[in-house]
Amino acid sequence: MIYMDNGATSYPKPPEVIEKMIDVITGYCANPGRAGHYMASKTAHEIYKSRIALARLFNIGDPRQLVFTKNCTEAINLALKGILKEGDHVIATSMEHNSVIRPLRELERKGISTTFVKCAEDGSLEPAKVVEAIRTGRSTGNTKLIVMTAASNVTGTKMPVEEVGRIAVRNGILFMVDGAQGAGHMDLDVRKNHIDILAAPGHKGLLGPQGTGFLYVRSGIDVDTLTEGGTGNRSCEEKQPRDFPEGYEAGTVNAPGIIALGTAANVINKIGIEAVEEHERRLTEKLQRGLEEISGVCLYGPENTYRKTAVVAINIEGMDCEKAAAMLNDKYGIAVRAGFHCSCMAHRTIGTEETGCIRICPGFYTSEKEIDEVIRAVREIAEGR
Ligand SMILES: Cc1ncc(COP(=O)(O)O)c(C=O)c1O
Repeated sequence: MIYMDNGATSYPKPPEVIEKMIDVITGYCANPGRAGHYMASKTAHEIYKSRIALARLFNIGDPRQLVFTKNCTEAINLALKGILKEGDHVIATSMEHNSVIRPLRELERKGISTTFVKCAEDGSLEPAKVVEAIRTGRSTGNTKLIVMTAASNVTGTKMPVEEVGRIAVRNGILFMVDGAQGAGHMDLDVRKNHIDILAAPGHKGLLGPQGTGFLYVRSGIDVDTLTEGGTGNRSCEEKQPRDFPEGYEAGTVNAPGIIALGTAANVINKIGIEAVEEHERRLTEKLQRGLEEISGVCLYGPENTYRKTAVVAINIEGMDCEKAAAMLNDKYGIAVRAGFHCSCMAHRTIGTEETGCIRICPGFYTSEKEIDEVIRAVREIAEGR
């Protein structure tokens, strides 16, 4: 199969990641932090090494501020529900994924107000619009948080993370980034970009296993827990400890996944995030230029591949996107995603709210030959062959 669904989860995984998972499960995997014996200590130590590897990739000063979660959705929920309180106002964009929109809609029922800043038709965001949305003033100055995706999962459009980070700092507002489509694809240095809170999946661009993700919260930010239970520390206290990271990782963690995620982060650390980004940009450029030449194919998002990640959204004139995706699968063995991509607002923004679109996502291991195959298949479908 030609796998072009890396926006949903990456495939294949680096061989080192697979080897590490086998090594952990067969070699020593005990319950970290729950006992002092060799196997439990070794598992805990390896998990700590994963925190360090990820902290290095995102320039996080204290690895203990990084909490492991089962995916990016859980990390986003932990942050939004743990930080926002009744009366707070939060700013987001119209290109957010449902994993940001839905928790915010739920929080609206608890007295939190929201503003979704409208992005342009190519998904790009004008930072001045964020400034306009900030509620200032003595009685109404309640904007507590700006939350924004690093890049759109529908069009790949990169968001102006650094500029919005500076706006947040200037206005004394917390800045949170949904790194689902950015982590492992572009530099998300938390200090350079003034990111206070970063949520990311381990299983997409970071090339780790499914069932992994993390939340980074800058030290000093008060976060309520989402799940209470055993943490391996302060066992005689009945109240949930608020210690980072243990207090936020109640229950037995996904040790093999987390340890293998650390290995994946080190694979990227070794290659260098800029090199990964440029490699994926070249693949995207080839794909985009090839598709542009096909009559009847409509592309969405920025034309300039420096302004986007490896996500190419298209429609084929006169053909339902789900049908085209099924043809790609059945006739050509090409895996893409079609439909609305858990992002209703993004489709309203780019004008595909009635049709949805086909999303083609090459990944780090995609070859140029595979890109050629995809272009050929789309051409044949568009020409009705
Ligand atoms: C922009 C964005 N945010 C959040 C998520 C949720 O990530 P996960 O599936 O790891 O929960 C996704 C998943 O596709 C995404 O694209």
